[in-house]
Amino acid sequence: MSIRTDALEFVNNNYDLYQRILQDFIKVPSISTDPNRKPSMLAAANFVKGILNQFEIKDVQIFETKGHPIVFAEKKSSNDNALTVLIYGHYDVQPADPVELWHSDPFTPIIRGDRLFGRGSSDMKGQIVASLAAYHAISSNGQIPLNFKFIIEGEEEIGSPHLANFMAEHKDLLECDVILNPDAGMISPVSPTIVYGLRGLTYFELNVIGPDHDLHSGMFGGVIHNPAIVLCELISKMHDEDWKVTLPGFYDDVLILSAEEKDQLLRLPITEENLKRQTGAPALWGEKGYSPIERIGTRPTLDISGMQSGFTGEGSKTIIPSSAMAKISMRTVPNQDPDKIYHQLRKFIEDNIPDTVKWDLKQFAGGWASISDISHPGVIALTEALKSEWGTEPLFKREGGSIPVVAAMQRILGRDSVLTGFGLPEDKIHSPNESLHLPTWKKGILALVQFFYNYAGLE
Ligand code: BES
Ligand code: MN
Repeated sequence: MSIRTDALEFVNNNYDLYQRILQDFIKVPSISTDPNRKPSMLAAANFVKGILNQFEIKDVQIFETKGHPIVFAEKKSSNDNALTVLIYGHYDVQPADPVELWHSDPFTPIIRGDRLFGRGSSDMKGQIVASLAAYHAISSNGQIPLNFKFIIEGEEEIGSPHLANFMAEHKDLLECDVILNPDAGMISPVSPTIVYGLRGLTYFELNVIGPDHDLHSGMFGGVIHNPAIVLCELISKMHDEDWKVTLPGFYDDVLILSAEEKDQLLRLPITEENLKRQTGAPALWGEKGYSPIERIGTRPTLDISGMQSGFTGEGSKTIIPSSAMAKISMRTVPNQDPDKIYHQLRKFIEDNIPDTVKWDLKQFAGGWASISDISHPGVIALTEALKSEWGTEPLFKREGGSIPVVAAMQRILGRDSVLTGFGLPEDKIHSPNESLHLPTWKKGILALVQFFYNYAGLE
């Protein structure tokens, strides 16, 4: 038997262990956006350190930041000429809200059928454990064919606000030949996927402020402009009748898709039927003139992620609310600049809001969109690896989601990421009842073992 088949067998033999580790990891409620979860964030960082230690990596550092800590670890190959892979992950998760819609507790992992349920099971604690398991397997015979570095952060789900600074200050530590980023999913369980493009994110909170307290809607209705109505009118003007975003200059820098790339994307098995099935929505929607895959991967969007105003409890209460708030999130594409978009949004509000209200705009952390080089040796190694496990060529996709670190690493470290992952569109990431398809996850671990050997140029 070759060392490769030994390592693959090692994964089979230790699969229960990896599942247990993942379940314990899910139990740590590492919700990065929740200030009350600070202790859990530290616990999750320490949990990652614990896995690395368990897998015989003793050189693990936890770096404090102004936000949540960053875990860094390193293991050198005994071969001086070995290439270096930097593995990226994030141990933070999205909030579990609305908690009442979960069929079981979000932080008590439970297997039903062939799925493991729990917040972060798919995005991305499962992907972290898969990567560490693959490392564990190839290091099990004591001959490590690559230099390994790990950077596991805790702020991805809030836009990685402190990671770019950390990377700029620790460029030497992070020096590598390729970055493996397993935070991107697959198109379907039979279609292993390499993601070569990601959208960026710019995120705002807009507050429209009216009277200095909630008013009796009879005493003042008709003389005081209602901030909730002002906000709704403003939002309704942010798209035109073709569902294009109306912010001035919004499309100026958008990278236009080549005819060739468009042809390739149109061949992906992303159909109207599948999108309806995955979402439960009765019909698709979107910018006129573009197919669904183009709209998801290559066109920018503007969405409202949440709104709040006035009375939302049971029954009725007759008021004019004193303010109204909307969370506005935009998915950007190469080469849109988040700062420019901030100014475009301000200008749009100034031009469209009536002077019967005041307003305030806050910007949250986000990041640039990215495109990665698909001729990178890492992509070739991963292509072969996915092919060996799934028996079919991987699909190349531009993803609609965002992983801001990818563009930041291109800029700061001058290195490209190879993006894949073993989550599926049905996993309900960011939503109640998130789960991980275990058979796909296991294949993923095996594929990563193959990837490491391929990249190292070993049989
Ligand atoms: N893993 C996702 C991104 C993703 C989703 C990639 C689906 C491929 C397929 C990641 O954890 C995520 O959710 N990112 C945030 C980033 C944001 C807060 C800056 C996102 O896209 O909303
Ligand atoms: Mn996520």
